Amino acid sequence: MLQTHIGGVEIKALARDFGTPVFVYDRAIIEQRIADLKGFPVIRFAQKACSNIAILSLMRKRGVVVDAVSAGEIHRALKAGFKPDDVVYTADIFDRASLELIVEHRMPVNCGSLDMIAQYGERCPGREITLRINPGFGHGHSQKTNTGGEGSKHGIWHELIDECLAAAKKYSLKVTGLHLHIGSGSDFEHLAQVGNALIKIASRLPDLTHISGGGGLPTPYRPADKPLDIGAFTKLWLDTQARMEKQLGRKIKLEVEPGRYLVAEAGNLITEVRAVKKQGTYTYALLDAGFNNLARPVMYGSYHPISVCPQGAAPSETQDVVVGGRLCESGDIFTQAEGGYVETRKLPKMQVGDLLTLHCAGAYGFVMGSNYNTMPLAPEVLVSNGKPILIRERQTAEDLLRGEHIPADL
Ligand SMILES: Cc1ncc(COP(=O)(O)O)c(C=O)c1O
Repeated sequence: MLQTHIGGVEIKALARDFGTPVFVYDRAIIEQRIADLKGFPVIRFAQKACSNIAILSLMRKRGVVVDAVSAGEIHRALKAGFKPDDVVYTADIFDRASLELIVEHRMPVNCGSLDMIAQYGERCPGREITLRINPGFGHGHSQKTNTGGEGSKHGIWHELIDECLAAAKKYSLKVTGLHLHIGSGSDFEHLAQVGNALIKIASRLPDLTHISGGGGLPTPYRPADKPLDIGAFTKLWLDTQARMEKQLGRKIKLEVEPGRYLVAEAGNLITEVRAVKKQGTYTYALLDAGFNNLARPVMYGSYHPISVCPQGAAPSETQDVVVGGRLCESGDIFTQAEGGYVETRKLPKMQVGDLLTLHCAGAYGFVMGSNYNTMPLAPEVLVSNGKPILIRERQTAEDLLRGEHIPADL
């Protein structure tokens, strides 16, 4: 596939003005995805998917609230202008820094272990909590993203509700929220099972006021992937809410908690082709980006659509290439299947200097970046009304060495 523009801006201009590799997000797509979910009373963005404070601020201004899984994410949410009440800390542990911030800001918490209930209760007796329950089953696009069942460390095991209530009672905590996030998928039968599990557990919680079915709304990455039927998805959850309200005889607020759905398609990683070489029967196009920028292919064998923007005339030929990164690591391949098997992709014939874009890179892209091989984190750019705006600078050589010291007696 050839592609020359993102959000109306020339890819060549983006590469010239911001350098490569660079993450570019299209604001209009994020806004469209938020609008898709307007049938839900509360949209809570799982910021781990893409946590730049400009993106968080955009979400906030469109009525989206946010979750946080660490002290760092709490700081981000507050910096982006969220009130503490609009942030929910969801995790399986409190590290000490997170707990201090939560106590200080009186921030809502979603407890994924009995230890969290006790530790929170000791510091904040009498407050309200949400329970994240592991219903005993899960679903994921990869085993690594399946967050339910006994093979997952997440959530409080569904058979321990009595223990949760006893722990809450000990500290006069009120269990007002119930949360289930079992992984990713659009299998409606499976989602109905999640809804039924929520209703069953809800009947055990007399103070319940709100529920969340978590995130996991899928994004079409491969050409054959079908977009989520958002109308059917919303209806399924509103029906679950209605059934629960009928059974409990009172109003229950419903939340949806997507990460990927809101940002994946908006994000693109623009890179430059720096070498094209033959290894036996394979041709490799090697980029100036690596899994230090986009880890999903190496972590999960994830597929990202790829397009080429040639520096010169559009090539008439295509070629089957392996697209590789720049890291000193043989697993650093963007076209690989789960298990690390190298795959080829049919792309327009490339030359050094051409620009190659990895699409659908807005979720779990930049945020999973690292400094491996002492590479700087890439800049992030938001395209808004046809104008590119830098929302995070590229790290510098000084940034990379900050905080390191050579002891005097070495
Ligand atoms: C508790 C919780 N909620 C929501 C999400 C978002 O998942 P997704 O990006 O698949 O929507 C995650 C992802 O790991 C999560 O752990």
